[in-house]
Amino acid sequence: MVKLDELGDWRRTHTSLDIGPELDGQEVTVMGWVSSIRRQGGITFLILQDKDGVAQVTIIKGKAPEKILKRIDELTTHTIVAVKGKLKSTEKAPQGAEIIPEDIRLLNTATRNPPFSIFGGKLPNIDKRLDIRSLELRRPKPRAIFKIRHVAAAAVREFLSNNGYLEVQTPKIIASATEGGASLFPVLYYDKEAFLAQSPQLYKEQLTMCFEKIFEVGPVFRAEPSRTLRHLAEIISIDVEEAYVSYLDVMSTLEQLVHHTLKTVADRCTDAVKELGIEVKIPRLPFKRYTYSEVLDILHDAGDKTAWGEDLSTAAMKKFGDIYPGFYFITDWPTASKPFYIKPKTDKPEISEAFDLMAGSLEISSGGTRVSSKRLLTKRLKEQGLKPRMFEYHLKLFDYGMPPHAGFGLGLDRFMMVITQEENIREVTLFPRDRLRLTP
Ligand code: 4AD
Ligand code: MG
Repeated sequence: MVKLDELGDWRRTHTSLDIGPELDGQEVTVMGWVSSIRRQGGITFLILQDKDGVAQVTIIKGKAPEKILKRIDELTTHTIVAVKGKLKSTEKAPQGAEIIPEDIRLLNTATRNPPFSIFGGKLPNIDKRLDIRSLELRRPKPRAIFKIRHVAAAAVREFLSNNGYLEVQTPKIIASATEGGASLFPVLYYDKEAFLAQSPQLYKEQLTMCFEKIFEVGPVFRAEPSRTLRHLAEIISIDVEEAYVSYLDVMSTLEQLVHHTLKTVADRCTDAVKELGIEVKIPRLPFKRYTYSEVLDILHDAGDKTAWGEDLSTAAMKKFGDIYPGFYFITDWPTASKPFYIKPKTDKPEISEAFDLMAGSLEISSGGTRVSSKRLLTKRLKEQGLKPRMFEYHLKLFDYGMPPHAGFGLGLDRFMMVITQEENIREVTLFPRDRLRLTP
């Protein structure tokens, strides 16, 4: 058994990113896991990996303190170590500098080797990787993906805050369905039945009464029956709602938000983007807009037989996405195909002021103008087979004057699939949840 050291009063002074020849002669304390040990005659090269990259520790027999020479004999890869030493510039080390150690602490050992290499080679299927996700995340590719996700989420908040939207958090345990009953997760709430929120829909609409422009970035839950590459049971939704505007205005906000996010990722994530071997394409504004009826016409010409009023199937959208691979909106959906809160057109109530934002064949956002009349909302609930009584807590607010409003929900995970050009939503979600997966 290897005797371990305590972290004690040691603290990291530099990460691998800070190390460079300009710090020649400086005392440093670095920490990380040992990613390789190379013994070459009297010299041992220890490669230390931390969150930012790698640093080389060079141990020279006869020069290094006896304690260090002893301790490095006990080292295996994946051991967690802290090293105190002096930086020495050398062209042979990864960052143009190596650490000549003066003291070392072995903070923990690894008793197992990962079932696949962190550095490349053949990878097992995604399920095997997800089983040990946090270890898997030491690989360069997923690290690049989650660096981009961090920057993308920050860009979204930045754009919306700068444009006068207030960030809010709404409850995730709720009393009634907003997006259709089939995909609802029931939970036991004390002695009552409640549900996990499928979206912050009703809360964000209500909040337009007081804050007018709001957004939320938070989890939403869908009990999706089938396991696909684009559906999860828990996702992060970017929800936006605004008073005194229509769907046309929020479509313009949404496309600017998408544009700003892609531009920010392209500007701030050059290394991560390079690691993924992709190019972030900045789309041109405005995005193309097709009505639902126009999409049907184009699909009919391509041999598809979807009838007016029917949902656009995955196969149909695959076809359409092949013709139009970039971002585009589909607007003016049949009212019956959209949720109760979407506003039907006044002069043509069978069509609604609803839109989806597509990236090729992938839907990344849905939105629309909302119903702001209590009478109409009650009628719409009934038309969709829902009981207005179940929505009393929502409907009663309309008695106090609800401004006209519109908004959208943009799935962050789907958006990340588009940004990183990943086919499987699980690659861009840290700990995905689906019908077959509840751990880790
Ligand atoms: O299209 P959805 O269901 O629309 C709403 O939730 C509305 N309340 C939005 C609104 O403001 N009108 O969900 C919005 C987006 C989808 O376009 C998709 O990007 C994502 O959320 N989404 C999912 N992503 C992955 N897996 C799932 N199971 C998803 N369900 C929705
Ligand atoms: Mg939708």
